[in-house]
Amino acid sequence: MTLTNMVGVRCCFKLLYAIVVVILLHMNNPCTGCRERERQALLALKQGFVADDGDPLDSWGREAQNKDCCEWDGVHCSKQTGHVVKLDLGFQVLQGKISPKLIELQHLEYLDLHYSNFNGSQIPDFIGSLSNLRHLDLSYANFGGLIPYQLGNLRNLHYLDLGYQDSLFGSTYSIYAKNLYWLSNLSRLKYLDLSFVNLSDVVGWLQVVNMLPKLTNLTLWGCSLPPPVISSVSLLNSSKSLVHVDLYKNNLNSSIFQWLPNLVYLDLSETKLSGRIPESIGQMSNLETIYLSMNSFEGVISETNFSKLSKLRILDLSSNSLVLKFSFDWVPPFQLHEIRLGSCKMGPYFPKWLRTQKSYHWLDISDAGISDTIPTWFWDLRNKLVYKDLSCNQIRGNLRSELASIYLNASWNQLEGPIPSILSNVYTLDLSNNKFSGSASFLCTSTTEESNLTYLDLSSNHLSGDLPDCWNHFHKLVFLDWSNNSLSGKIPATMGYLFSIETLNLNNNRFVGELPSQLKSCTELTLLDVGENKLSGLIPEWLGENLLNLTVIILRSNQFYRSIPPQLCHLTQLQILDLSINNISGIIPKCLNTWTTLAQNGHSSPSIEHSNNFWLGESLYDSPYDDEASLTWKGVRSKYKSILGLVKSIDLSCNKLSGEIPTEITYLVGLVSLNLSRNQLTGQIPSRIGILQELESLDLSRNQINGRIPTSLSRIYRIGYLDLSQNYLSGKIPIGTQLQTFNSAYGGNPQLCGEPLPRICSEEEKGPGQPVLVNEDEKDGLITQGFYISMELGVAVGFWGVCGTLLLNRSCRYMYFNFLTFLNDWLYVKAEIIRQRIINK
Ligand SMILES: *[C@@H]1O[C@H](CO)[C@@H](O)[C@H](O)[C@H]1NC(C)=O
Ligand SMILES: *[C@@H]1O[C@H](CO)[C@@H](O)[C@H](O)[C@H]1NC(C)=O
Ligand SMILES: *[C@@H]1O[C@H](CO)[C@@H](O)[C@H](O)[C@H]1NC(C)=O
Ligand SMILES: *[C@@H]1O[C@H](CO)[C@@H](O)[C@H](O)[C@H]1NC(C)=O
Ligand SMILES: *[C@@H]1O[C@H](CO)[C@@H](O)[C@H](O)[C@H]1NC(C)=O
Ligand SMILES: *[C@@H]1O[C@H](CO)[C@@H](O)[C@H](O)[C@H]1NC(C)=O
Ligand SMILES: *[C@@H]1O[C@H](CO)[C@@H](O)[C@H](O)[C@H]1NC(C)=O
Repeated sequence: MTLTNMVGVRCCFKLLYAIVVVILLHMNNPCTGCRERERQALLALKQGFVADDGDPLDSWGREAQNKDCCEWDGVHCSKQTGHVVKLDLGFQVLQGKISPKLIELQHLEYLDLHYSNFNGSQIPDFIGSLSNLRHLDLSYANFGGLIPYQLGNLRNLHYLDLGYQDSLFGSTYSIYAKNLYWLSNLSRLKYLDLSFVNLSDVVGWLQVVNMLPKLTNLTLWGCSLPPPVISSVSLLNSSKSLVHVDLYKNNLNSSIFQWLPNLVYLDLSETKLSGRIPESIGQMSNLETIYLSMNSFEGVISETNFSKLSKLRILDLSSNSLVLKFSFDWVPPFQLHEIRLGSCKMGPYFPKWLRTQKSYHWLDISDAGISDTIPTWFWDLRNKLVYKDLSCNQIRGNLRSELASIYLNASWNQLEGPIPSILSNVYTLDLSNNKFSGSASFLCTSTTEESNLTYLDLSSNHLSGDLPDCWNHFHKLVFLDWSNNSLSGKIPATMGYLFSIETLNLNNNRFVGELPSQLKSCTELTLLDVGENKLSGLIPEWLGENLLNLTVIILRSNQFYRSIPPQLCHLTQLQILDLSINNISGIIPKCLNTWTTLAQNGHSSPSIEHSNNFWLGESLYDSPYDDEASLTWKGVRSKYKSILGLVKSIDLSCNKLSGEIPTEITYLVGLVSLNLSRNQLTGQIPSRIGILQELESLDLSRNQINGRIPTSLSRIYRIGYLDLSQNYLSGKIPIGTQLQTFNSAYGGNPQLCGEPLPRICSEEEKGPGQPVLVNEDEKDGLITQGFYISMELGVAVGFWGVCGTLLLNRSCRYMYFNFLTFLNDWLYVKAEIIRQRIINK
């Protein structure tokens, strides 16, 4: 036998041996690949889950053809031992309870139950007995209560995600931990995410994190973390390994910087940090991403702060009080993808270093103190810019179509000249509060087919001429605002094609003619403001018949005539009705008690918020907006936005209304303001008017109202503005609360008597009315809707009102939270979050 032959035979033996071993291994599991005990445990697990619609685990069965549990969906067994090692049940939307039989799966290494709904119950402590677990993902599963410390027994864990348990992340917490000592046992942990777990009591969280020598990714969003306690001990353990630190939205202080590792990814936005940004950040040469937005950092940042950050791709310093001072020809060491520098002062010249950045797609230089024209090189940049925010500067000159991007905000600048053909591929365009002039014809020249535009704000410019009639291309438009321009002509009929429109504002222009009946197809309309124009005709009946979502109707200061159509009573969502200063006659319809929103006190949210979704690249982005309207409140006209939702108001003043004030008005207990002044109303004030307990402003002046002032009026404790002057009221002014303090409320009613008027009442005039005593319990302090509404008055309107308050209200991530609360479908929300997290980072 030759040597080669011998080797060949040995090889054959080896092969044979291997085959025998494999067969023997299989015989260990006589009939199936699955162990009976584990199969029973899995069946018990399935039984604990309630099937919602359709059974997510329907392949898990007892039937003969379903016997091998290793074949079941989401179940993985070890090829060598046949034990179940992996349960991959994420996205299965399981509901109910986790059976304690789970611990029979002692060989389990991987357990994923994320995107389930355990209805606020506690994480079962027996999970802590699965001592072989390496990967545990219970995120987005609606767990609540205390995190069981038994999880500290999972010493093999590499990956732990218990984050995002609530559907309304951060607004309430359902899950919490009192301390994290149990975590310090998990010395193999690489990835830890406890986002939205309430950790407000965990003072020593940093010490615990520091005991995890292998940790690379740490995400603790919105945990209410207290400021870290940094002891004198060296803090190097985990910071050596960490590459990703995301502490967004916590209550830290600057001692966190003593600990920060030389990071790839650092998110400290909205963490209440203040003072100067430490130079040490500039030494973190591995940094690719820095989020420091929405803190109170101050001071000057210069190019030396960036000299080592050659890998930086995302820089977010927005919403702080920082000044960026770079030398004129600075060439940064980095090429950024996202430049988020809103409110960082870098003017007065347009920042030249932007010219060196060749590949960014996100640019926010709003409120940067730039007072300059846009340089030509900026037009020539061929970046794939999807997001551009240049708002709140003093940028001058013309706009060129090259600036187009999916989101473009150049509002609150000094841009002038005609608006170029910019609309192709733009989704959100805000050019409001500039000096653009010329016609609106760019609209039709930009768009020949279906436009993607969802949001168009051209308000407060100098645009003139007719509105073009090509709105049939704008099916997706949600928001359209042309207010405060000099547009004239008729409202075009094709506006009826705006099938998605929710907000339509044409206030303060020179439009003439009637409201086109085609608008009745705009059934999503929530706010319709055509006030302060020269419109005429009847108030259309279709407003009440077709546009049932209308919440705000403003027809103020036009020439609408004849009566208020009773169809308006169908608008159950109605909250603000302003028909003042028209030529409206007839009676106030009695059916107004069907306005259910006005007939309820309280409100669902302070603002009237709309979602505005569009795709930025592959991610769905929401840039929600709040409706805004100008209203007269207690005699003062101002703009309302962030609290418009609190205002429930009817203003029919300055018309030719006649007849009595319908007693049905007393059903509208949510009303905070009622203005019927300057009409020809007769009859008496409804005696039950005192039911309107939310009323803060009541103006019935300049009518022909007679009779006594109802005693119940003195029981509206909130009333802060009252005008009953120039009527035919008679008798004694009821005594109580504030009625005596409104000195000018009663003039021009010769037959009224009693305080505060000088005329003393005769016995006869005193009448039956009893003085009303103030019930202190009902006078609940300052915090009423009206209080907030009046507060808003103090806020300056105009450049500083909008741009100066950026620090308070600008937050991309708020957008994301708002988006969540907007949608009811919890699971849809959860699915979107992943994308949102990506886009918001
Ligand atoms: C969820 O919990 C609530 C109370 O916490 C309870 O009323 C409800 O029945 C539970 N739902 C399920 C499906 O267990
Ligand atoms: C977090 O827990 C603390 C007490 O441990 C509590 O006072 C606080 O209100 C909780 N925060 C939220 C937002 O639920
Ligand atoms: C570093 O980790 C080790 C092992 O987990 C621990 O014993 C030690 O106390 C840690 N050092 C610090 C400074 O926390
Ligand atoms: C950990 O962080 C790094 C850097 O940000 C990131 O690339 C990686 O995907 C993260 N790991 C996991 C599991 O998310
Ligand atoms: C544009 O910027 C202004 C000022 O920063 C802001 O108030 C407005 O909401 C922004 N517009 C859009 C559509 O986001
Ligand atoms: C007011 O309306 C009436 C019809 O109700 C009409 O005759 C009159 O001309 C209108 N006045 C103005 C100023 O438009
Ligand atoms: C009522 O309306 C008239 C005219 O529109 C206005 O002058 C007056 O100030 C308003 N009253 C209140 C209390 O706002």
